[in-house]
Amino acid sequence: MSENLDQISEQYKIVVRDLMKVYRRGQKEVIALRGVDFEVSEGEFLSIIGPSGSGKSTLLKMLGALDKPTAGVILYDGHSVNALDDRRSMLYRRQKVGFVWQIGNLVPGLSALKNVILPMKLAGAPSSASTERATMLLETLGLADRMNHKPNQLSGGENQRVAICVALANSPELLLGDEITGELDSETTEVVMDSLKRTNKEFGTTVINVTHNPKVAEYADRVLRIRDGLIEGQKHILYGDITEIDAKGRMVIPDTIRRLAGLGKRVVLRATSDGLLISPLDTSGEASSGQDASIE
Ligand SMILES: Nc1ncnc2c1ncn2[C@@H]1O[C@H](COP(=O)(O)OP(=O)(O)OP(=O)(O)O)[C@@H](O)[C@H]1O
Ligand SMILES: [Mg+2]
Repeated sequence: MSENLDQISEQYKIVVRDLMKVYRRGQKEVIALRGVDFEVSEGEFLSIIGPSGSGKSTLLKMLGALDKPTAGVILYDGHSVNALDDRRSMLYRRQKVGFVWQIGNLVPGLSALKNVILPMKLAGAPSSASTERATMLLETLGLADRMNHKPNQLSGGENQRVAICVALANSPELLLGDEITGELDSETTEVVMDSLKRTNKEFGTTVINVTHNPKVAEYADRVLRIRDGLIEGQKHILYGDITEIDAKGRMVIPDTIRRLAGLGKRVVLRATSDGLLISPLDTSGEASSGQDASIE
């Protein structure tokens, strides 16, 4: 059953497996991702759509190494993103990833051009090359006559296009967008999404864009639907949860999982290469038949 992740990651830019995220606040736990699996090809434009609270932003933060998952793995070019230490996470974010958020994170006092130059300056790029690249990016996204305007002199859609240029400044391989058109009307949304599409096609940037708007999702090559922390249509996990094993080896298996896996009062435990396999004990009249629950 266990797949060869090395082989899979040779085919894909990004491989996500069994990704789980539990937020803990005091005694309260929120399971934001319950075992998410997907792959992204190099140069692909992927939309992730789902209702509010389904785990979209959480997933994007893990992909951008802004936070660590509770369990599971993200392989980028075959390397584990979640295993990176703080310094390497920072380098991954700086060298590989560009972020665009719902509300553009532009510096208010700087012109569009200077906003796009800034990340290159911070990365130590020479000033003439930075100005040239910033100009090219702004022109490509249709902002040639807006270069010297400051954010408060630009429309919402123009601001978001400048934000895309800022994200592209240091030539990231991966662009992550979180509800980037969330504040825009439908006409402006089209302009911004066309720009994102152009970015993907002209620069070959891999794009993962999160939205709850089906029209926005349509711009992508492929759409993944997320609900309650799981990708819809994902086959091999019936339901994921996280539990703890106490010092005496006791573990609470949540009711839903027990029901789905057909676990009765007594179970069989097997250590496998994937983790612990807990199966119903097949004695007539006792355990109900059902599927195995594999808990790593
Ligand atoms: N830092 C946090 N601490 C505790 N719970 C969190 C935290 N961040 C997110 N959550 C919870 O995790 C779940 C998923 O949140 P997330 O922000 O990923 O959803 P989303 O799909 O991006 O929603 P939206 O469309 O509203 O932005 C929600 O139940 C949310 O309340
Ligand atoms: Mg969100």
